[in-house]
Amino acid sequence: MNGIQTKRNILVTSALPYANGPIHIGHLVEYIQTDIWVRFQKMSGNPCIYVCADDAHGTPIMLRARQEGITPEQLIARVAEEHKADFAAFRVEFDNYYSTHSDENRFYANTIYEHNRDAGHIARRTITQAFDPKEEMFLPDRFIKGECPKCGAGDQYGDNCEACGASYSPGELKNPTSVVSGVTPIQKESEHYFFKLGDFETMLKQWTRGGHLQAEVANKLDEWFQAGLQEWDISRDAPYFGFEIPDHPGKFFYVWLDAPIGYMASFRNLCDRTEGLEFDAFWSRDSKAELYHFIGKDIIYFHALFWPAMLDGAGFRTPTAVFAHGFLTVDGQKMSKSRGTFIRARTYLESLNPEYLRYYFAAKLGSGVEDIDLNLEDFTARVNSDLVGKVVNIASRCAGFLRKRFDSRLSEQISEPTLFDEFTQAGRSIAERYEQREFSHAVREIMALADRANQYIDDRKPWVIAKEVGRAQELHQVCSMGINLFRVLIGYLRPILPATAEKAELFLKVAPLSWADLAQPLANHEIAKFKPLMTRVEKAQIDSMVEASKQDLEKQAEDSPEAASKELTADPIGETIEYPDFARVDLRIVEIVKASRVEGADKLLQLTLDLGGETRQVFAGIKSAYEPEQLEGRLTVMVANLAPRKMRFGISEGMVLAAGPGGSELFLLSPDAGARPGMRVK
Ligand code: MSP
Ligand code: ZN
Repeated sequence: MNGIQTKRNILVTSALPYANGPIHIGHLVEYIQTDIWVRFQKMSGNPCIYVCADDAHGTPIMLRARQEGITPEQLIARVAEEHKADFAAFRVEFDNYYSTHSDENRFYANTIYEHNRDAGHIARRTITQAFDPKEEMFLPDRFIKGECPKCGAGDQYGDNCEACGASYSPGELKNPTSVVSGVTPIQKESEHYFFKLGDFETMLKQWTRGGHLQAEVANKLDEWFQAGLQEWDISRDAPYFGFEIPDHPGKFFYVWLDAPIGYMASFRNLCDRTEGLEFDAFWSRDSKAELYHFIGKDIIYFHALFWPAMLDGAGFRTPTAVFAHGFLTVDGQKMSKSRGTFIRARTYLESLNPEYLRYYFAAKLGSGVEDIDLNLEDFTARVNSDLVGKVVNIASRCAGFLRKRFDSRLSEQISEPTLFDEFTQAGRSIAERYEQREFSHAVREIMALADRANQYIDDRKPWVIAKEVGRAQELHQVCSMGINLFRVLIGYLRPILPATAEKAELFLKVAPLSWADLAQPLANHEIAKFKPLMTRVEKAQIDSMVEASKQDLEKQAEDSPEAASKELTADPIGETIEYPDFARVDLRIVEIVKASRVEGADKLLQLTLDLGGETRQVFAGIKSAYEPEQLEGRLTVMVANLAPRKMRFGISEGMVLAAGPGGSELFLLSPDAGARPGMRVK
């Protein structure tokens, strides 16, 4: 459809994931949605660039690194590798993936700040804030806990109560404690810098009604306008992991100031490596390029108010559009760690093919901000019936006859031009659905065509024709027609199923399909041997993913900053258990006969343990506390009957026991002299 239009120039972003945690399937809604849209643009011949980065600054990242006993730079370098690997596995294909902790980002953060400051849009004033006197740091709301001032529930965060839903300011919490050190915070004054959002009220009112936002988002903004645009606090005091504000030592930009600027920085970094790609062509005020930000509905305020205002105040262009999506629920509920529905990208990949999830999300996604639900039963049923049962089946029903009877060569002409035209005509509407981000409609139209193709094959019954003498030509035509219909379908699904499309292209022996190619049928063309493009989803795979997600929870609970801080203060003893519960845990003395580093793993050592005859391989997260050489030959204690767990680097057959908060503060347990490998600990 775009062959005749003049080419567009498009720059697309997804929100930058925080560099303190793994990618989970909730995040993937966004990255998959964006990737499908970008792939569609590229397939249509539109120059389209997709950039993203890790959001690497802020207090949580600083504290997490401290707790792991590493520097923030080490933490963000490790997480960046993990994020990149996860995205690559899900075929989310960025043109550049960068970091907000970069020279380019510091440069643009300073530029945007300075331009706004020089134009009078920055104010400074002294505020009072909670301060941890032991750690000597100001505390963000999330790092203060106490009793709810309304209902008295304990262990509540500084901004709202999970028990009664009340929201309040951290100063109102009763018996507040610092999550970082456990001490009682004091109130302390400090000078802060503010972005005067109110200066942009007229500009923002026009912009938000200028077709740059979804209707429901624009309505939400009206509420915010009515509530009044507040000045935005853009500074934080040291210690902070971020960029120091020029001329204000000890003051840092708040992470959300430099985060969206990371879009520019990532693009800039790409420009510097790419001949002919000009930064200004995309970001100057008079740019003709299109700029789109895909985001979740929780970060609309930042992208639809602060961001356009900051850009405008600094003399840059504003976005063409911001596209917000809803949140992922699993089986109708918020993702839950204890139900095993808080599923990490990695954990999903251990059990399931990423193409399934891409398809399922596409089948559910529209252009609005409604939440989308991953129903695990429906997921299995849809993938099996649509992809395996309908689409892939068309090729498998035809390929065998072509190979056995016609040397894998398609007929000279297609026998049903009208049916073929029906398929190619549908391409206009499907393209329009993609363009409008109505992926669920695109999928519905494609599946209706798949039904049509299967019906054609059912009507012509190649398996019957094949047995009758004198009908070879007819058989050849029906199967060739089937393969041609399959090719068009795979072309339409290509933005959603890139890996399957690649396999299909190998089978069809064609170059990567473009939208324009699809109107021309394949005739007198040799194809390859058919190999199944996709297997069915089995319930057991889903079960193992949910089970593994529950195990992730246990591990993560041990390494979250809150858990660690509790440990530093006083780790309270948990619920009591009966002796038989304890007796089920088979603890054994073992000798570490071999210890080695694991390529690509930052926390793990691989241990070979001798249990008095039997040996086990265990991956232990103790690398930051021990050199492997120190460990060989020493005795320790292991859980010998822990179910084996498949990890990225291999199978771990148990667990060794260590005490401490983590990072470099970890202490492997050792028995007294005389104990021997294999002895049971009771
Ligand atoms: N770092 C900020 C974004 C800065 S953009 C300049 C952030 N990071 S995040 O890791 O929390 O989220 C990244 C994106 O994933 C956000 O757009 C967020 O809305 C989206 N999602 C995170 N959890 C999600 C679900 N459960 N469901 C759908 N999207 C979700 O916010
Ligand atoms: Zn309450």
